[in-house]
Amino acid sequence: MKIMIINGPNLNLLGQREPGIYGSDSFESYLPKLKAEYPEIEIEYYQSNIEGELINKMQETGFTYDGIVLNAGAYTHTSIALQDCIRSLKAPVVEVHISNVHKREEFRHKSMISSACLGVICGFGLDSYRLAVEALSMK
Ligand code: DQA
Repeated sequence: MKIMIINGPNLNLLGQREPGIYGSDSFESYLPKLKAEYPEIEIEYYQSNIEGELINKMQETGFTYDGIVLNAGAYTHTSIALQDCIRSLKAPVVEVHISNVHKREEFRHKSMISSACLGVICGFGLDSYRLAVEALSMK
């Protein structure tokens, strides 16, 4: 089984960015731990701050991988292009957020991509990614 994890804008700054909200671990330090928990799953990781690059990566992997875990960052709340992309793919996409977006500002309560995703996991810190991998591994 192959799973692609895609992080959107500003998530390259995990560990430094608003640690009270997003924690003090970088994604690079978390990823090996996640991989070690699922040795039977091939887990790849990609991050970009650029919407079109996220779409390119989704199109590139969304027909051959078994699932995509997507934290689209702020594009979650704005991007119809990402929603269209998710709808076009064969692979199921799980929307992930580190923070509980529903406890935060109102503009974060609306997701443009949830309706196209298999499911949504939010609010469990970096463990949100593991929960998404776990959900995809059950498919
Ligand atoms: C986020 C929540 C978004 O509202 C925010 O723009 C992010 C991170 C999260 O993981 O909690 O960049 O997706």
